[in-house]
Amino acid sequence: MTTTDEGLDARYDYARTIALEAARMGMEYYRNRSGLTIEHKGSDRQDMVSIADKRLEEFIRSRLAERFPEDGFVGEEGGTLDLQACCLWVIDPIDGTACFLNGLHNWCVSIGLAIAGEPVIGVIADPNHDELFHGCRGRGAFVNDTPLRVSEATHVSQGLLGTGTFHKEGKHHFIPFLERLLAEGGMFFRNGSGALTTAYVAAGRLIGYYETHLKSWDCLAGLVLVKEAGGLANDFLAGDGLLQGNPYLVACPGVYAQVEALIGPSIRIGQPERIRRNS
Ligand code: IPD
Ligand code: CA
Ligand code: CA
Ligand code: CA
Repeated sequence: MTTTDEGLDARYDYARTIALEAARMGMEYYRNRSGLTIEHKGSDRQDMVSIADKRLEEFIRSRLAERFPEDGFVGEEGGTLDLQACCLWVIDPIDGTACFLNGLHNWCVSIGLAIAGEPVIGVIADPNHDELFHGCRGRGAFVNDTPLRVSEATHVSQGLLGTGTFHKEGKHHFIPFLERLLAEGGMFFRNGSGALTTAYVAAGRLIGYYETHLKSWDCLAGLVLVKEAGGLANDFLAGDGLLQGNPYLVACPGVYAQVEALIGPSIRIGQPERIRRNS
């Protein structure tokens, strides 16, 4: 089954519309965040969630189901629906929840679409900075109306590298990686939103982004932007990456191999550019 250009256009337009609507709704919660009850997922005290995440996901999910009832859905808070569907929406209602709940402006709404396992539409709405990042396979990537292009850096010392990890992996992989990065004259950046960090790579604001493990809702939309902006990505969706996640690396072509070498062989990064699922 294929999706026509018309079907793709309709989904691209609609994704932008609902991302902006959800972002506006998120701003209402954000302004009134002192009244939100914070829950913790599992034993990690940094892994938070509130009713804002859940309501935004319900909203996006129901708007998508209204318009494209035949499409499948993967969301961080609400689970999965019809994974075998040709068109699969992969969404994070609030990426950067810890920032959101701590009053930091680094959060966004992220909506991605994969067709037959390939990321083809990416929309990331950042209402605090009035930035709507969006892209579609073969049509380029933009922030608002401005085209995106990755950095021309050729060495990690020429820019900032987005980074992230979680507690279990920090000690074993991440700290040694940071030491190697710093030894090369590189510098790390973390803002608490994988989706926005990826968009910043597409925009050339960061030279790349390595995180020891991300989930598909954190980065699927961003992968479209990076690819359309001329960047490289690892085969993040390999294996069961869609549901379980994988290590994640995106970068401008001039530094991808260097960052991969700094990560070292103990983390399986996979080949650049092959971002198809099960390829
Ligand atoms: C998190 C953010 C963060 C990354 C974490 C993600 P959430 O998503 O993207 O930057 O380091 O791995 O879980 O929980 O804020 O949606
Ligand atoms: Ca979360
Ligand atoms: Ca996320
Ligand atoms: Ca989230």
